[in-house]
Amino acid sequence: MADNPVITIDGPAASGKGTLAQRLSADLGFNLLDSGLLYRIVGYTASDAQLSLRDASGLEVFIRDRLRFKINQEPSREIAPGSYEVYIFKHVGVEDTVSINGRNVNLVLRSQETGVNSSIVSAVPEVRHLLIPIQRAMLTPPGLVADGRDMGTVVFPDAQLKFYLDASVGTRARRRLDQLQKPVDQSSLVKMISELEQRDKRDRTRDIAPLKIPENAQILDTTNLTIDEMFTVARTTIREQILI
Ligand code: CDP
Repeated sequence: MADNPVITIDGPAASGKGTLAQRLSADLGFNLLDSGLLYRIVGYTASDAQLSLRDASGLEVFIRDRLRFKINQEPSREIAPGSYEVYIFKHVGVEDTVSINGRNVNLVLRSQETGVNSSIVSAVPEVRHLLIPIQRAMLTPPGLVADGRDMGTVVFPDAQLKFYLDASVGTRARRRLDQLQKPVDQSSLVKMISELEQRDKRDRTRDIAPLKIPENAQILDTTNLTIDEMFTVARTTIREQILI
């Protein structure tokens, strides 16, 4: 087995990446990187600071000078004027929780509106560039499960094992409505399908680090799989391919 292996999971919105990544990291005892959360934090804070979400140099200065990421640290009471102190807390088997300037922002970060804002800022090369070292620093012993759009292609191209998850857009829309605890009726399904399609299109067609299937990735269609089945398929592949 390689030292500190990396397992990447890429794929479109609501394809099951986050759930699979949490289950695998808990089972393997590996650290977990939810890279989408970092883009959501940038989208949310930049919009809160009333920046233009397409202004590359404005976003670059904002991230460099006003955003501070702290992982699993005790929040400080001191907040420099105009800055956003972002505390990310990791928990085994469930999603990260986040506080910004002392406020619990878990719901707003995972809202549809923040999803759209994150997708807009994530197309800006300066933003992606500044987030790369933060993502790579998450690789600590005994290994990492990394969830995102460019984990296997850009951030961890040498990963020991790469998954690409997908599912029909109808299934993904249903899952996202469930996750947001919204009713699954015909009109909300139609609206959600259209929102997911727009976001996927933006993620797949951007110039930098577009969503695509990494070379040698294991493709997993989760449309008809339960969470347990998806986990079992992925876990078996890991055992066979990288012997852990
Ligand atoms: O949960 P969901 O798949 O809807 O979204 P997410 O993983 O939280 O990511 C939110 C947005 O961040 C995506 O639509 C992408 O635009 C962007 N993102 C990215 O560009 N690169 C990544 N590695 C992860 C997310």
